[in-house]
This record gives sequence, structure tokens and C-alpha cells, in this order.
Amino acid sequence: MKKLYVGTSWKMNKTVTETHEYISKIVEFMQKNRETVKDLDVFILPTFLAIDAALQITKSANSKLKIGAQDCCWEDSGPFTGEVSPMHLKDLGAAYVEIGHAERREIFMETDEMVSKKVSAVIKNNMKPILCIGEEEKPAQINIALHFLEHQLLDGLSRINNDDLKNIVIAYEPVWAIGATASAPLDYLREAIDFLRDLLNKKFGNNCGNDQVIIYGGSVNLESARDILTLPNNDGIFVGRSALNVEYFISMIKMAAEVQKIK
Ligand code: PGA
Repeated sequence: MKKLYVGTSWKMNKTVTETHEYISKIVEFMQKNRETVKDLDVFILPTFLAIDAALQITKSANSKLKIGAQDCCWEDSGPFTGEVSPMHLKDLGAAYVEIGHAERREIFMETDEMVSKKVSAVIKNNMKPILCIGEEEKPAQINIALHFLEHQLLDGLSRINNDDLKNIVIAYEPVWAIGATASAPLDYLREAIDFLRDLLNKKFGNNCGNDQVIIYGGSVNLESARDILTLPNNDGIFVGRSALNVEYFISMIKMAAEVQKIK
């Protein structure tokens, strides 16, 4: 059975105190519902400052909730003032590092070159990159978006080996659906994810595109989560605003567990 992924990035939200409350609730829920959540991959990406606090809770409870970061530098150490090292994140116990989110690309001018260096640095440090890709505008014809996605995905993966693919999560996040009122339409999503899987099959062979973990992010909420999780070619949801409320996030985890039984 393929795992279903339920993850959230808090972006620049939640203090260390708030992190403590939220993570404690999730850990408690997952302990009490061990059997229900056993085949899910649940992850939370707090701010850098709160990662350690989150990990202290998960470690002391021996929880399978995974904690990660929202970005990192491509170098392990050196003269990179203000940057955060992937090696230091690994040392804390982070499992995932999100790379190339639309806000990093747009507001902080991250290029595909930087993204590919970061993906490779995360892998080198034995963590899993969550590589975000997505077209900026909803085109009249999906083919235009697919052409853009092809370049963005292959550029992001340009420094990895075929074997590394199993340690990468691809987050398909159309920029026009992030922070919007609704998620991308299901048909559109299905077509884009099929395209990404075919592309990986062609580029890397061995049917790896079919096994690749691909999740969707962009205005996922309690209304849209179930249908998106149910899409046969999609492996999970990556949630922003709607997961800032811990009860909503717990509801989404429960939904994923239900969907997984019938998928
Ligand atoms: P949103 O954020 O759910 O608030 O749209 C999603 C994302 O940026 O990944």
C-alpha cells in the first residue's frame, strides 16, 4: 500500500509557545490513534526557531510525526550570513526540508539553479527534500503550464541521481492556487500530475514516475481535502492556512486515514 502524506508548512506563523501547544496536540492525537495513522506520513514544517522545540516533543514521545524546515542553504557551513545549514538541521533531527516554495522563488528571488543546489544539499545530509514546483498563472490551455512544469522539475532535479528520487517528495503547487479561495480543479490536477509522472518515467526510466511521491498544495481546506486525497495519482496534501488551526489539521489527518482504506 502506498503511503498517503499529510503535511503543513506554517510559513512565518506561530511562536515557540504556540508550537509547543500545537505539536503536543498532534502528538497526543497520533499516540491515541496509532493504528489509524500507521500508514500515513504526517509532517509539520514550523519556523526555524521552533523546529527544536517541536522535535523535543516528538522525540520524547517517540512519535512518528515528522518535523522539517521550510528552506535551507546549499552549503553546510561557511560565510553565508543569516543562512541556515542543512547539516545543522540534520543534527537537530529534521526529516524534511521544503525547497523552492513559490514565495521563496518570487519574494526572495530563488532561481532554479539555487533550488537544485539546495535539493542536492538536503539529500547529501540524508534528509528528504520537498521540491515545490508550479506554474504562475492558470493558462487557457494546460499544455502551456505543462511545458513550464517540465523545465522547473527537470532543473530542480538536475543534480540528483536516479536513486535519489525515492527520497524526494514533489509538491505540485500551482502558484495561482496558493493563498486563493479554492484549490485547483481536480481534472486539471489529475492531468498535471499524470504529466509529471510520465516525464519522470521518460527522463529517469524504470517506471520511477509511477512510484514517485507527488503531493498537492494550494488552498487545500476541509472541503477540498477529501477529493484531492482520493485522486488516484496523487499521494497527499500539503496545507498552508487551513492547517494553522490544529483541529482542522487533525480532521485532515483523519480524512487521509479514511481515504487510504479505500484507495
Ligand atoms: P495555502 O498555502 O494552503 O494557504 O494556499 C499552500 C502553500 O503555500 O503551500
